[in-house]
Amino acid sequence: MRFTNTVLTTAAALHGATAAATPDAGAGAGLETRQSNTIAVDLSKTYQRMDGFGFSLAFQRANLITNMSDKTKQRELLDLLFNRTTGAGFSILRNGIGSTPNSDSDYMNTIAPTNPGGPKAEPKYQWDGKDSGQLWVSQQAVNSYGVKTIYANAWSAPGYMKTNNRDTNGGSLCGVPGASCSSGDWRQAYANYLVAYVKFYGAAGVNVTHLGFLNEPDYSSSYASMQANGNQAADFIKVLHPTLEAAGLASQVGVTCCDSMSWSNQVGMVNQIRSSGAEGLLKAVTSHTYTSGAGGPMNSRAPVWMSEQCDLNGQWSTAWYSNGGAGDGLTWANNIYSAVVSNNISGFVYWEGVQWPNPNTNEKLIRVDNTTNTYQVAKRLWAFANWSRYVRPGAVRVGASSSGGGGNGVRTAAFRNEDGTVAVIAISSSASAANVNVKISSGGGAAAKPVAVQAFVSDNTRDCASTPASVADDGTISGSVAGRSITTFFILPAAE
Ligand SMILES: *[C@@H]1O[C@H](CO)[C@@H](O)[C@H](O)[C@H]1NC(C)=O
Ligand SMILES: *[C@@H]1O[C@H](CO)[C@@H](O)[C@H](O)[C@H]1NC(C)=O
Ligand SMILES: *[C@@H]1O[C@H](CO)[C@@H](O)[C@H](O)[C@H]1NC(C)=O
Ligand SMILES: *[C@@H]1O[C@H](CO)[C@@H](O)[C@H](O)[C@H]1NC(C)=O
Ligand SMILES: *[C@@H]1O[C@H](CO)[C@@H](O)[C@H](O)[C@H]1NC(C)=O
Ligand SMILES: *[C@@H]1O[C@H](CO)[C@@H](O)[C@H](O)[C@H]1NC(C)=O
Repeated sequence: MRFTNTVLTTAAALHGATAAATPDAGAGAGLETRQSNTIAVDLSKTYQRMDGFGFSLAFQRANLITNMSDKTKQRELLDLLFNRTTGAGFSILRNGIGSTPNSDSDYMNTIAPTNPGGPKAEPKYQWDGKDSGQLWVSQQAVNSYGVKTIYANAWSAPGYMKTNNRDTNGGSLCGVPGASCSSGDWRQAYANYLVAYVKFYGAAGVNVTHLGFLNEPDYSSSYASMQANGNQAADFIKVLHPTLEAAGLASQVGVTCCDSMSWSNQVGMVNQIRSSGAEGLLKAVTSHTYTSGAGGPMNSRAPVWMSEQCDLNGQWSTAWYSNGGAGDGLTWANNIYSAVVSNNISGFVYWEGVQWPNPNTNEKLIRVDNTTNTYQVAKRLWAFANWSRYVRPGAVRVGASSSGGGGNGVRTAAFRNEDGTVAVIAISSSASAANVNVKISSGGGAAAKPVAVQAFVSDNTRDCASTPASVADDGTISGSVAGRSITTFFILPAAE
């Protein structure tokens, strides 16, 4: 997003008010004793490069959008997810590559449902042009909203390529170390199959950019699942990467691994992949955090994504704040903060973007009832919006620290986007509002004076609503952070 010339003034002109003197509506109690924080942003201190924020529509959830007969509502759902001015502005879409011979229940059908007669036999690919509704949503994301990062992720190889002869209930890919099968070595066939899937998408105008061949390899489930340890994963990465190269796709799409159920399992797999000499073949390291969370950065040179998480257990809640529950919007604003600032995460991907009411849990951001064509949006989506709209793919995280009398719980992170804009995120977990001054410098040098600033707040009553902020003559930005809110300052620095 670019500021137009007409708003290249100060925020006072943008909003017709100066913020510091204006208490926030809906900010909660305690305004009379409002304290001040200073957020110091240092553009010369740089950390990880961001790939973006996203969600999945695997398990046929995409059909809730693709099949939606009310076209106005269909567009509203797409806007909520991808629009950068009215929705979350998500920049990563994680699609499931199906492995099942049918589309019954939640199963995602595979492009190679029948065993051609062995790993060396000519495969019989069947492309239905739908991919469980995911192709259409992907086309919309790419063509209408400019999404550039499409993560295609297989939960399993088709059953006939595996030790257990089914795509569910674990089992291993035939041919990786420790997994020999009478049917032969299916590693190259699986790599060819994944490349064929990428080509079907390419022919439909969607460039897959990230390709994963495992999902939760540390968990065996009654839905599609395939197990692997780090050595087995490394072995297959050494087959898949050259297959992408041979297909001329290596500059478009890179390999990810391994979408572990637990972060600690992923740490172990990354170490094994590194010892096996395959780390350099990865475009991203991907992990879930269901059974263990991150305790610090993963020891990897590749960008690391939290590629799936959600509140699986909580009853459906649209709340911004209800005592810090696992499904609260504010909780997710903070989860993203910890991942990005404490754990060096470059991509953060929620589980499902949409899902029907049953199960009535928080594993989705939007609950869509396809019997009534109605939907409800959880505040979790707006927590993501505060990050995703302003911290764009390619943004580099820069130094940011918060200090001052209003320090009761204001956490901050800052990013420089590729277009030069700076996004400063401030999250308040305390009930009271704080005034903030944002000062931008470069290596302790003179502040690069911002020429414009916009501020947005999400809290109990507001969804990325505009909130006042202003730039003083010395370049200091003044604004406020409402109690229990995430507030984003989106700043256009002067040309350097
Ligand atoms: C979407 O339509 C397909 C037929 O094209 C159908 O099989 C599927 O059950 C529908 N799914 C939803 C969620 O409406
Ligand atoms: C996003 O929403 C705005 C406001 O409704 C609309 O003008 C714009 O066209 C939408 N953007 C896209 C890419 O659809
Ligand atoms: C898709 O990738 C191919 C290379 O595989 C490239 O030539 C093409 O320009 C890309 N298209 C888009 C829209 O990025
Ligand atoms: C953070 O991740 C980047 C890759 O995105 C990596 O180069 C860097 O070494 C990581 N930093 C730490 C402290 O792990
Ligand atoms: C709603 O979705 C379910 C689950 O995919 C599907 O079985 C059903 O046919 C859909 N109903 C309508 C009216 O689209
Ligand atoms: C940011 O989060 C606040 C809640 O603190 C919400 O009111 C606001 O709408 C969100 N902003 C965006 C851009 O989503």
